[in-house]
Amino acid sequence: MDRLGGQLSRLCGVVGIDPAAPVALLSGVLGEHGSRSLSAPPAWPSGVADDHTPIEFSLAYNETEPPALRILAEVLAPAPGVAENMAATYAFLHRHADRYGLSTRRLDMVRDLFAGDRTTGDFGLWISLVFRAGRRPEFKVYFNPEVTGAERAPEIVAEALRRLGLGDAYARMLDHAVRPGELGRRDRLTFFALDLHDGPQARVKLYLSHHDAGPEDAARAAAAVDGVDPAEVAAFCVDSGRAARFDGRPLVDSYTITEGVGRPVGYSIYVPIRDYVGDDRQAHHRMLPLLDRYGFDPAFLDRAIAAVTDRPLDDGVGLLAHVSLRLGPPRPGMTVYLSSEAYQVMPPRPLSIAV
Ligand code: TRP
Repeated sequence: MDRLGGQLSRLCGVVGIDPAAPVALLSGVLGEHGSRSLSAPPAWPSGVADDHTPIEFSLAYNETEPPALRILAEVLAPAPGVAENMAATYAFLHRHADRYGLSTRRLDMVRDLFAGDRTTGDFGLWISLVFRAGRRPEFKVYFNPEVTGAERAPEIVAEALRRLGLGDAYARMLDHAVRPGELGRRDRLTFFALDLHDGPQARVKLYLSHHDAGPEDAARAAAAVDGVDPAEVAAFCVDSGRAARFDGRPLVDSYTITEGVGRPVGYSIYVPIRDYVGDDRQAHHRMLPLLDRYGFDPAFLDRAIAAVTDRPLDDGVGLLAHVSLRLGPPRPGMTVYLSSEAYQVMPPRPLSIAV
């Protein structure tokens, strides 16, 4: 908790937020594991970050407002397990519902579909917390469609969307995002995400992972959304990943669906840049022209990096875990994901890829 809490407080400083509420929430997420020594092995092999830290930070640049700070987290039960962590997550949300005005209306409509008994997946439910200057934190949940196996995921997601009145969007998304015969194989349903508020902008997001895919696959997926430029998405993949084929960690993308529209209104692409660079200096070097392209101030990124670590960027890889591009409403922009490296710094690797 000391290390993560320090990182979080300093990150709050970067985006101009009072750290008190974020740090209290972090402490709730970690539960009794917060006091555990970092030299002991992780209490649970969380997939949130490569070194099993159950927390990942991100800095979300927005076109029309100042950058936001986010945390992706797996709430850990005292005796962690997939179903146990899910129960701990629901308890955590319940505890904070009044104070933060959370609406679990849509969550309650679908949660039985992602139930954690008979789990075969490696997680059931993650959450994210978004901190914006001058506003209450926002909460989002991420269900694992593969929690009872990859085979069942397509029907679970279909039923969840149907219950939410969004069934029409599903065929269109799958049509564009899935290569023939690859659903549940190289194209996977990764997260089913819900905003825990009820405003007009409350979203459902469907995330897919594309193994062994190329920029052209992302472009095809992006073409499902009106107003999104597929070529822009492909260029983002090429310029961040410098790969014709992403044969390490997969490209991930997501569709944003808002109630009442019935089709995806936004598209985001997440490039796991850490697998396509030799070290974090190289990742940083690639991010600068991208930030510049979209008119974002790199000083925020540099201050965020300094808030998380003081190691030289070329001493490791994976601090800069993903970089994403968000297109369409409600908030277009770019996000940089920062690992806390609480347990481990991954050593740099020699790579023959051009800088
Ligand atoms: N660590 C996991 C992965 O890399 C999950 C994850 C964390 C993730 N942050 C993410 C996936 C951002 C996509 C985008 O897949």
